[in-house]
Amino acid sequence: MSTPPNFDEVIDRRGTHSSKWDMMEPLYGVPAADGIAMWVADMDFRPPACVQNALEGMASHGLYGYFGDNRANHDAIRWWMSTRHGWEVEAASIFTTNGLVNGTALCVDAYTKPGDGVVLMTPVYHAFARVIAAAGRKVVECPLAIEDGRYVLDIAGWDAMMTGGERMLILCSPHNPGGRVWTGDELRAIAAFCVRHDLILVSDEIHHDLVMPGHKHTAMALAAPEIMDRLVMMTATTKTFNIAGCHVGNVIIPDKALRTPFQASLNAQGVSPNSFGMVMATAAYSPDGAAWVDTLVSYLDGNRRLFEDGLATIPGVRPMALEATYLAWIDFAGTGMDAAEFTARVEKQARIAANHGPSFGKGGGHFLRFNLATPRAVVAESVARLKQAFGDLQ
Ligand SMILES: Cc1ncc(COP(=O)(O)O)c(C=O)c1O
Repeated sequence: MSTPPNFDEVIDRRGTHSSKWDMMEPLYGVPAADGIAMWVADMDFRPPACVQNALEGMASHGLYGYFGDNRANHDAIRWWMSTRHGWEVEAASIFTTNGLVNGTALCVDAYTKPGDGVVLMTPVYHAFARVIAAAGRKVVECPLAIEDGRYVLDIAGWDAMMTGGERMLILCSPHNPGGRVWTGDELRAIAAFCVRHDLILVSDEIHHDLVMPGHKHTAMALAAPEIMDRLVMMTATTKTFNIAGCHVGNVIIPDKALRTPFQASLNAQGVSPNSFGMVMATAAYSPDGAAWVDTLVSYLDGNRRLFEDGLATIPGVRPMALEATYLAWIDFAGTGMDAAEFTARVEKQARIAANHGPSFGKGGGHFLRFNLATPRAVVAESVARLKQAFGDLQ
């Protein structure tokens, strides 16, 4: 492998059109000068050299026309899913979208009609509800339960909520926020729920490579092969390799009949691949990329430990155990403060921008989400600032 990655390097991203850093002051009032951006889910790390080299190869060739011939990209995707996830994917089942929010919107368009219900297990990644509502469909929030400080399913409760007007469920696996890696039994229970209520199951597995040691992600396609005729899988290189700005995603549809409406939506909306994204994603899904991800995950696990241990010393502040993703979901209910107060302490005293819990739907009210994919020294600084901001609780 090439030079090992240096995740400790602090790279100043201010003034680079970074959403996370350059929108922190306008949106949160956290000063750009010395604030810490811990909201948007991208990482403050450079991608692996294989990705950078591929992009530099393109730049030195200097021609930026339309993309064609996706065979290498399909081979790379198939290799990654097989070697990293034990999942054999057929080339014809792969569709390229402009990212997975785009993939979600295309699924909503392809498989539901205006007024139909789309089920979300909330709190969950906020863009799902935004896309569903913008398309004139109904967001049906099925709240996750909390048991022993972690999210669990409440299938019986959700069964009772269904009206017959629901057509689709969008699953986030592993779960953002909350960091759950759903077990095989949980995945099968979700699949059975979809069969019972005749729902298309869209499984967004964008975080599937970022799983903490001791946990194992299972692709829905492997957990419940019996529901292939209603399953749409979504994966991407963008979270894993920190190339979200290139807006490229894999929508993988095992069932031939289900592919037709999806292809029709792609055509109707004029979606075609971004050549930068295709070149970067193809380079990423490689042995060098895999070695980089292994190093990354172990670094993220160290950040997770530092943050969880640090926050656990603040009375009333409770981190949810992070099994996957780099997005720490922190419960402030035990402080006795309302959301306005604990959020003001985080933003004004600690000068940290973190996502507000309510944007993730029901159950998010007393939470904030912190992005830990940043150099260890920055995580340490955030912990020190938070301890000080809530110092009167010690
Ligand atoms: C579950 C989930 N899906 C999709 C996305 C974004 O996907 P994209 O950037 O490919 O549109 C995110 C980003 O945080 C996410 O957490």
